Amino acid sequence: MHSIAQLLSCFDPVTGNIAGVPATQRRLEDLRGCFADAAAYEAALAAGNPLLYRVASVEPAAGPGDLHYGVGCLMPGKIGAEYFLTKGHLHSWRQAAEIYIGLAGEGVMLLEDESSGESRMVPLRPHQAVYVPGHTAHRTINTGTMPLTYVGIYPAHAGHDYAAIARRNFRCAVIEQDGHPVMIERSELLKTLAS
Ligand SMILES: [Fe+2]
Repeated sequence: MHSIAQLLSCFDPVTGNIAGVPATQRRLEDLRGCFADAAAYEAALAAGNPLLYRVASVEPAAGPGDLHYGVGCLMPGKIGAEYFLTKGHLHSWRQAAEIYIGLAGEGVMLLEDESSGESRMVPLRPHQAVYVPGHTAHRTINTGTMPLTYVGIYPAHAGHDYAAIARRNFRCAVIEQDGHPVMIERSELLKTLAS
């Protein structure tokens, strides 16, 4: 039988910190290539290198049938018109699904079917759960004014494939337009920026 320490974790829904669990931190410099507006990215980086998000992962066991989960905290902000975002990933075990549950703040998840490229922007807020099917790239985006925290629960064998996203990014981007988040084709956004 697992110990109580393995069975129970206590997290802060505002900061996303889990007592006794170190968090992986990602700063602006770690997200090079993720934002469409390269000039705005370089300008923001020249002005500082802020923390964008951290994720604390709980991995009690890694056998068949086991589950892992992580608590993420993504800061509010934008690069150009594009909201702060996570790198995003596919699961190495492609059929692995995941459930995200909003804890605090206001955001969306960008989901992209790996084979068709079809994209969905799904709200992620407190009291809302998002089902991320297998074979779906997923990225979290903070569209609010306070830190966005959430839990993600996934099969222990899912694994994280960041390389596929690093090569081609997501097909769509989420930008602020008239005060609201809007999903647009990244190619269209790049055209607008070039004109
Ligand atoms: Fe995931």
